Amino acid sequence: MTTSQTSQPLPPKYLQEDDLSEECEKLLSILPKEKGWIGSYIYNYQGIWTSPRVIQAVIACQQQFQAQDSDIILVTNPKSGTTWLKSLLFSLVNRMKHPIFEQNHPLLVKNPHDLIPFLELRLYLDGQVPNFSSFSSPRLLSSHLPYASLPKSVQDSRTKLVYLCRNPRDTFISMWHYSNSLRLHHLDTNSIEEMLDLFCKGVSLHGPFWNHVLDYWKESVEKPHKVLFLMYEEIKEQPKIQIKRLAEFLECPFSMEEENCGVVDEILRMCSFENLSNLEVNVNGKLSTGVENKMFFRKGEVGDWKNYFTIEMSEKLNHVIEQKFQGSGLRFLYN
Ligand code: A3P
Repeated sequence: MTTSQTSQPLPPKYLQEDDLSEECEKLLSILPKEKGWIGSYIYNYQGIWTSPRVIQAVIACQQQFQAQDSDIILVTNPKSGTTWLKSLLFSLVNRMKHPIFEQNHPLLVKNPHDLIPFLELRLYLDGQVPNFSSFSSPRLLSSHLPYASLPKSVQDSRTKLVYLCRNPRDTFISMWHYSNSLRLHHLDTNSIEEMLDLFCKGVSLHGPFWNHVLDYWKESVEKPHKVLFLMYEEIKEQPKIQIKRLAEFLECPFSMEEENCGVVDEILRMCSFENLSNLEVNVNGKLSTGVENKMFFRKGEVGDWKNYFTIEMSEKLNHVIEQKFQGSGLRFLYN
């Protein structure tokens, strides 16, 4: 092995393309595939575009995960602000056990992804049966899976789902940056135009983006007690109102006393981009999946797409957005 080979960091576990089960290899050989955002290829399994190792984990998760009525699962399209909402959710739900003013609050020493793990990207990734005994109740979990692909017990139980959506233009830009930073070392950087073409065709990480959003939107309208639909831009604009909505949905509303003592403000401060992105753990730490924590903090702004999109790109994506969301009642904020 040469020196340059030994110094190359290993890709995150969920992107490693070797060591797949024979069953998974067989399945991959018949699945539709496209150029990968991060790895060599991305495959379509049950309507979701994702990487081989994740497909293996999705199957295990669907077969094994038993939801409990008290579970809370955060679902997002990748790069919609998952890290942020994980931090808000964790501090909100655990505020009795971990008062937000506490000196050694878990968010000060752990990345939000370590506090609320992904089912398919973490817990079921290694082919082991996850050990849930260390989880306190309610269990806080997360997923990028579309509604129809969630394990059946999630749909059949009283498990609550919190869905976070971000406008597609910023989601795309964030995904393009993220995937280029993680892109496997033997592959070239993907151009923005090429990836926008794929995004518009629905070929994005855990995409298509539209189906993902629309399915949860529909569920949130039909089952408002089961699914809460939040928007990144609305949390940015009215953080207090949105976090109170979240607390009420989860049946742990803030008391007047908490509000007067500044608990809500402190949760928002603790979870702000400025605070989280500057913590030592998020500057120098790594997740067990191998991804550096700093990868989850780039700009954290609404409207960064304007720094990248040409008029042609805007028109192209607008056209798809209009087509896909027409009549849904969903509107995105872009500024
Ligand atoms: P940008 O790339 O636009 O900066 P995810 O957590 O789903 O991977 O999404 C990552 C996006 O959320 C990144 O967007 C990141 O900067 C942003 N983000 C991370 N923490 C945030 C926070 N506390 N507040 C607002 N945005 C945040």
